[in-house]
Amino acid sequence: MSQGIFISFEGIDGAGKSSHIDALASLLQQQGYSVTRSREPGGTELAEQLRQLVLNHPMDALTEALLVFAARRDHVQQVIRPALQRGDVVLCDRFADASFAYQGGGRGVDWATLLQLEQWVQSQQGAVLQPDLTIWFDLPPAVAAARLVQARTADRFESQPEDFFHQVVQGYARRQQADPQRFARIAADQPREQVWADVCQALVQRGWLR
Ligand code: TYD
Repeated sequence: MSQGIFISFEGIDGAGKSSHIDALASLLQQQGYSVTRSREPGGTELAEQLRQLVLNHPMDALTEALLVFAARRDHVQQVIRPALQRGDVVLCDRFADASFAYQGGGRGVDWATLLQLEQWVQSQQGAVLQPDLTIWFDLPPAVAAARLVQARTADRFESQPEDFFHQVVQGYARRQQADPQRFARIAADQPREQVWADVCQALVQRGWLR
């Protein structure tokens, strides 16, 4: 049984997750928590190699899904479960919802196939590992597109047309509908300080922050 707290962060590219994850890691440490900060695809040497392939190498949608779940398997076994067993707060920049949103919504991989992969990869003694909280930075794709124009060289996802991101958002919405208690959906087009206040509020509500 896990004793720590598992929080994932989701949203389309350009939603501005990273700086809030950094700030939250600092705040939690100040309040005495031990924090493991990680990301997907990635978080282990093997998974980071798979990330390079997924972000840069052309491949079909099912191959992409298999690789992100393979990376997740390694990450869960090597990093996430041990950290939760130590009692850490695990802050993970993306987790399985991203596979449903991007490979399912965006690329059209069959939802039932993804559910099966999730069962295989995240199960232990009959229970499927899920975040205790998923903070979804919800941003209109048009706003994200405008932000990404100023960003560094685009990877295979960032270079997708705006319509792709509408499908990704629908994928996230479908995941939220299936498990509404787990999600805090935050409007990421608000001023930065308000987004930060909403992030903190989600943890305060669960009794994890003072
Ligand atoms: P991202 O987390 O946005 O990192 P950075 O800020 O460095 O660009 O990039 C990861 C990309 O991988 C993002 O476009 C979403 C995609 N992705 C998937 O397609 N499926 C997945 O299961 C995961 C975890 C990510």
